[in-house]
Parts: sequence; structure tokens; C-alpha cells
Amino acid sequence: MPIIIDGLSHIYHENTALQTAALEGVSLRIEKGGWTSFIGHTGSGKSTLAQHLNAVLRPTAGTVSVDGVVVGPVKKREKLDLRALRRKVALVFQYPEQQLFEETVRAELAFAPRNWGMSEGEIREKSSRALAAVGLDDSYLERNPFGLSGGEKRRVAIASVLTTSPDYLVLDEPTAGVDGRGRATLLALLDRIHREGTAIVLITHDLEIAFSRSDQILMLEHGRVAGLGTPDEIAQTLHKNPVPGLIVPEVMRTALLLRDRGWRVPLTCDPEKLATACARERRRRG
Ligand SMILES: Nc1ncnc2c1ncn2[C@@H]1O[C@H](COP(=O)(O)OP(=O)(O)OP(=O)(O)O)[C@@H](O)[C@H]1O
Ligand SMILES: [Mg+2]
Repeated sequence: MPIIIDGLSHIYHENTALQTAALEGVSLRIEKGGWTSFIGHTGSGKSTLAQHLNAVLRPTAGTVSVDGVVVGPVKKREKLDLRALRRKVALVFQYPEQQLFEETVRAELAFAPRNWGMSEGEIREKSSRALAAVGLDDSYLERNPFGLSGGEKRRVAIASVLTTSPDYLVLDEPTAGVDGRGRATLLALLDRIHREGTAIVLITHDLEIAFSRSDQILMLEHGRVAGLGTPDEIAQTLHKNPVPGLIVPEVMRTALLLRDRGWRVPLTCDPEKLATACARERRRRG
């Protein structure tokens, strides 16, 4: 079953001087096995929305339903099985410091599986496998997570959610502050996890990643849905109505401009694909 977000609003510090409406009336459906990306200017509400997907935050109004479990505004004495929900939906926070709290990488990786009641042998095996998946070897197990570099911390944060094989993996800007090689390694890992059947929900400022991989893209602006559709639809929306802070990749922009001039080319970020389509179109046009 999918994640269904219905009329979700979130107000921080409601009824105080610090009151901030971060989300207003957001609705969307996230399918199992799919790839959804959230894009939007800084402060548009992406992280707030991400934190509703596994009930780190609760709605001020509206609901989030995960495989039929409905999470709405907090009610007195209600019982919610948050453990089951978080086993299905894992969230990698925007800042690794929000996620890492144990003294060793080993303890960090063991935390969730131990909570789910896995045996120690299984935990050891899952921890090694999750570390290897993010490109780190077992020598990292005894390291203190806070003594690692920014990129290493991010990898450990991702490994720590891989140990429980979630159905949905939500990653909040995992490529921020990662160098080109780190970005490629991370994307290869996400592609593999996605191929193996895990749904990916990616929050990113990197539109090339969003356009090249998503089934659907949600574009937020000041907490409201400014666009929801396929990469082609969102690229065309952004071409007509540019949004400050969202930069359409050059190759995609070229494809959009060629289309404006009547060229039959795909809306791609891949220069090879665009060049091939242009050559074909030139032959067709004689
Ligand atoms: N803990 C908080 N308390 C009060 N206001 C908050 C809190 N977290 C976020 N906000 C506010 O809510 C709005 C949405 O913030 P959010 O972090 O969801 O945006 P974002 O799209 O993730 O931004 P960025 O791209 O910078 O990460 C902003 O106005 C922000 O200042
Ligand atoms: Mg954010």
C-alpha cells in the first residue's frame, strides 16, 4: 500500500510569537517501489514534509497514512505503533548530527535492529553489509561517529537505516556537501536500493538527479504545492514559470528551448541523448 498524504498542514510553535506555517494543504500519494523527489526553495517546507512521513512530526491538520496506518494531529491517549511505522519508513535527516547519537559506529548501526529484536549474529552481519553498501569497511565500526568527516557521517547515517531494510527510504538532501565522487557513489547506491524494490523519497536541490530518476516530483513553494507531476511536466512548468532557487540543468534547458522551436527532442539531462536526438531531427528535417 502507498503513503497517502491528505490536506497536510504544519504550523511550528502554534499560538506563540514564533508561529510559522511551514506546510499548508499538501496532498500527494507515494507509491511503493517508486521514486518521488521533493524540490523547492530553501524554507519551502521539504524537511518538514519529510519528517511527517515517519511521524517524527505530527500534522497540525490533515493526515499521513502509511500502509493503512493513519497519523493525524496528536490526540489524547491514542496509541500509535510508531515502531512498526518507522520500520516501514526510514528517514535520513538533512543533518547527520540530527540522527547520530551513539559513541561508536557499531552501536549506531545496531540500535534499530536491536530495537526490532534481531539476534546479535544477525545484527553483526547486517551492520557489516550496510557499511559495505555505503563504501566503508569494518575498520569504521569502533570509530566515534562525531570524529568522522561530514561525508563519512552522512554515509554512516544512511547505513544506520539500511540495517532494517525499509519499504520506503526518505533521504533529506543526502548529496549536500558531498564531492563529485561521493555523489556518484551515493547515486549508484540509491539506484541499487531502488532496483531491489525500496521506494525512494529524495529531497534535493540537485534537479539533475530529480529529473533523471523520479516517477513524480513534488515542487513546494512557501509550504504549498506549486507543482506535482512527472519530470517532463515539472520541467515544462519551471520553464514557463521559473522559481527562484530552482535551476533547470543546462542540457534540459537546451532541450526545452529546442522544443519551443518545434524540435522533437526528449526532455533529458543527458547530453549524449540530446545530441543523438538532434542528429536524428536534423536528418528528418533534411
Ligand atoms: N524547528 C522549527 N521551528 C520553527 N520553525 C521551523 C522549524 N523548522 C523549520 N521551520 C520553518 O519552517 C519553514 C520550512 O522549513 P523546512 O526546514 O521544512 O524547509 P526546507 O525546504 O527543508 O529548507 P532547506 O532547503 O533550507 O532545507 C521555514 O520557514 C523554517 O524557518
Ligand atoms: Mg530542509
